[in-house]
Amino acid sequence: MDRRMFLKHAALGAAAVGVARTAAAAEMYFPVKADQSLFATINRAKNPARKNPLEQKHVPVLKAPATVKAGKPFTVEVSIGEQIHPMGPTHWIEFVELNVGNEPAGRADFQPRGFLHPKVTFTVVIPKEAAPAGKVTLIARQRCNLHGYWEGTADVAVT
Ligand SMILES: [Fe+2]
Repeated sequence: MDRRMFLKHAALGAAAVGVARTAAAAEMYFPVKADQSLFATINRAKNPARKNPLEQKHVPVLKAPATVKAGKPFTVEVSIGEQIHPMGPTHWIEFVELNVGNEPAGRADFQPRGFLHPKVTFTVVIPKEAAPAGKVTLIARQRCNLHGYWEGTADVAVT
């Protein structure tokens, strides 16, 4: 093999290794095994009393007082989920949102490094006019990079 031929084969081999490594890295960070049907809708527990393992890890769990006073702050703790969801470079919770009825109240974004637990405490104030029927539904939503968008709710009486 002459020098020119050797260099040509060495360059092609290096390019092939580079492409293979890039594909392996892409597979690690953007796995194709995600169930795409979970991204087509907002997912909820089908039977809240008997959640399956996927629902146990993904349905947001809200801890809030059953009754609050209008205009007075209270805390709402949102955990993802009953079994805390893993946080790593390939599988993580991207964000947690809290709505008061149909109104967005707040949001926390997470990075995939795993420094944060997917658990957020919001301090909420509900004015009297936001709960004319004397109650309001708190809606928490989260998005998992592999398992889509999930919702959990809690009803609160407002006096
Ligand atoms: Fe997940």
